[in-house]
Amino acid sequence: MIHLGVNIDHCATLRQARYREAGTTVGGVVEPDPVTFALLAERAGADGITVHLREDRRHIQERDVVRLRESVATRLNLEMACTPAMTAFALRLKPEFVCLVPENRQEVSTEGGLDVVANAVRVRACVEALREAGIAVSLFIDPEEAQIEWSVKVGAPFVELHTGAYATAGQGSGREVEFARLRRGGERAHALGLKVNAGHGINYVNIAEVRTLPHLYELNIGHSIVSRAIFTGVEEAVREMKARITR
Ligand code: PXP
Repeated sequence: MIHLGVNIDHCATLRQARYREAGTTVGGVVEPDPVTFALLAERAGADGITVHLREDRRHIQERDVVRLRESVATRLNLEMACTPAMTAFALRLKPEFVCLVPENRQEVSTEGGLDVVANAVRVRACVEALREAGIAVSLFIDPEEAQIEWSVKVGAPFVELHTGAYATAGQGSGREVEFARLRRGGERAHALGLKVNAGHGINYVNIAEVRTLPHLYELNIGHSIVSRAIFTGVEEAVREMKARITR
């Protein structure tokens, strides 16, 4: 069964649009609350909750992550940059999963995944420190041979294949090419012993195809679920995505 990780960043985006000081404000009305979103998502069948604590703190704040750590009953997946400050934060927080993502230009590979090849020393140090603390680590990478091979070399047990290029390719041959790359990436990663996640730009339409990728362990989906939740409520939005994944 493919797991669904619900990324709740954009619940915080909506809050920050009005309450920029939410991370430090005590009392008063500060909405919508990402922790409430997470608990509703879990009640509707989410297998995990994902947040990206960005260096610019544009949506999720440190306080959100700490509250989530106390509240999430499934598992918490922290997306973060591969920096000493974020590594120290993760070691204190101890989420079940960390997904290392790029945050500045030098770290980005062709289509926006983490460039593990160019940053192998730094990534390996981060992976080792997190794994020693019992945290499962995944690397958010493009479905490229070299990135997959280097993910193994730096000791990551998981990769998350970047589905963004596929999701934005529209219909036609571009999409087919991108889907074939993802399929090859999934096969290669699995053959090398990696567990395979995927994410970015997955929605209620393209999920019909994405779910057929080989060896998927988990899909991390955010924007489309948060968007749908505005109309249907969180639980219905999550339930519908779960149904489409398992259908
Ligand atoms: N996976 C990773 C590593 C991400 O950084 C994000 C957020 O961009 C997602 C999955 C979820 O993407 P989306 O919000 O497009 O579903």
